[in-house]
Order: sequence, then C-alpha cells, then structure tokens
Amino acid sequence: MHHPTAAPHFVQLHQTDHAAVRAELAAGLQAQPAHVAPKFFYDALGSRLFDAITELAEYYPTRTEAAIFRAHATAMAQQVPPGAVLVDLGAGSCAKAAGLFPVLRPAAYVAVDISVDYLRDAMGPLQQRHPSLPMLGLGLDFSAQLALPAAATDWLARQGAAGAPRCVFYPGSSIGNFNPTEALALLRQARAVCAGGGPGGGLLIGVDRVKPKAVVEPAYDDPLGVTAAFNRNLLLHTNALLGTDFAPARWRHVAFFNEADSRIEMHLRSEGAQTVRWPGGERRFADGEQVHTENSYKWQPADFDALLREAGFGVSTHWTDARGWFSVFWAPV
Ligand code: AVJ
Repeated sequence: MHHPTAAPHFVQLHQTDHAAVRAELAAGLQAQPAHVAPKFFYDALGSRLFDAITELAEYYPTRTEAAIFRAHATAMAQQVPPGAVLVDLGAGSCAKAAGLFPVLRPAAYVAVDISVDYLRDAMGPLQQRHPSLPMLGLGLDFSAQLALPAAATDWLARQGAAGAPRCVFYPGSSIGNFNPTEALALLRQARAVCAGGGPGGGLLIGVDRVKPKAVVEPAYDDPLGVTAAFNRNLLLHTNALLGTDFAPARWRHVAFFNEADSRIEMHLRSEGAQTVRWPGGERRFADGEQVHTENSYKWQPADFDALLREAGFGVSTHWTDARGWFSVFWAPV
C-alpha cells in the first residue's frame, strides 16, 4: 500500500468554550467540598510535570505497563487482529501507540486527544517514520462523549478501512480518573466504537491494580515533590483560565490511598485561612480546608473483568508484571 501524500489529516470537534470552562471551574470552587477536575492539570507545564512524574522511581505505572507491553507483545499480537484501525484515546505524544505499530500492524491510526494542537507536533514526525500508515488526528473531549464523528468514519472510508476491525487503545490507567459508574459508561462507548468496525475488534486497556499503601502512596507523594508541583500547578492553570488569585505556596499537597473506595485521592490543603477571588466570585477557605483535585482508582483484575463484561465485551484476557502491580486487558467486542 503506497500513499504518495503521506500527511496526517486533522479534525477538531471540541471547540473550547471559555465561558463554559470558567463556569465549570467556578462551580467546583463554590462546591462543598471544593474541587477542580484533573483534566485541568494538563496545561503546557502540567504536561511536562506529568512526564517528569513518569521518570520518578516511585511512580511505577508507566514503566510497569511498558514492561508488560514488551514482555507480552507476541501474545497481544495473537489477540489483536492485524489490519485494524488503531483508535488511541488520549494519544498525546503518540509514543505508546507508535511503539505498538510493529506488533499490532494497524491499517490506520486515529489519535484522539482533547486538542488537535497536542497531536500536530507528534503526528508530523510520526507520519514521516510511517509514510504508508494513514493517520488521523481527532480533537475530541471523549471524557464527555466517546464516538467517532462522521468526519472520522468518512476519512476511514476514504482509506478503504471502513470495514476494518477497530482496536481502541487506552493505556496508562487513565481509566483510573473515572469512578466505577463513569468508567462503565466510557467502556460501553468504547465497545460501540469497536463494534462499528469489522469482526475481531476490541479494547486494549492499561489498568492500575490495588496494591499495598506502602507502594501506591509514594507514587503520588514523591520525596522530590514533583507530584506536589504537578498538583499545585493546577492552581496556576486555574488562575490563567478563571482569573483566580491562588498563591500556590499557601497550599499543601495531600495524597493518600482511600481503601474503602479503592482510590488514590489528591487534594490541596489551605495553609491558614484565606480567600480566593476571581472576576464575579470568591471562596473563603478555613485553615486546613481542602480542594479535591484527583481520584485515581485502582482495580482488582476480577472486578475490572466484571466491569468489561457489564459494558458488553466478550471474555477478556489480561497480562501482568511479575509483582502484580498493573494489568493490560484485551477485551474483544
Ligand atoms: C494520568 C490519570 C493515569 O492517576 O496515575 C499521576 C495521573 N496524578 N500522578 C495517575 C497522576 C498524579 C495519572 N493518570
């Protein structure tokens, strides 16, 4: 298959509605307890701080998942059909999916992220390295609603891939940011995307597992304070978006494993009483009062398997590292 015009195609669906973003942030700050959604971690600095987190000795998920992909590539290739459309959710740098191209041998690559701007930088050079692989960058907030828009299915048809099986790829345990009810809804939508292609499709997803506190807590409260910086940077991003006057130095990073809900919680704790102001609003925080910034759910494999079944998938397979810290699931349609 030769494509003389090897250039990625881009489609932006989600138009950033600045008024809606401000309203969402203000509502979270007025709520009891106050909260800011974890999607707001990822401004330019936040994305770099997250990349730094993945380099920390204490942050095991990224390298554990990478080791699972390396160790079980052949077994995965036996499950995922070659010639599939690889739909990469939260693709960012596209590095994880690109590493799997030789293993999965997709017929087309659809990179999905909230903004095509994140995808443009990565996909140009990636297309150079894989000139015959059709690539589509899709700007879409799939946390709100996951479905391939007509612009994407039309593009697939033009690539001759309308009837190809679809492999939805969702690595990194990003599913952990969703509570079980939300995760179920997202998995159902992922299944519908897979079911829209030819037979043999499915979901390839990374899931962080329940493990001892002594392992999981340092991953979210590292001694260098990189995760603390990542958490506090949310306040700077909120200042930029909403016009709040958060002073990051007056907020302490808090992270702990909530065993009852099987999740890491991250918060920012007010050091002393303070009032945060923004155009059109303010919020008084008592000393020690917290802003909830993230949940990161950890799953037992049997529970995640049951969730996949409830979402409509067939019998899943999963691969795990020797320590049993992380699992990669293949869930067929
Ligand atoms: C990107 C959601 C998978 O929950 O481990 C890392 C985000 N937060 N350190 C995770 C995160 C603090 C990360 N996910």
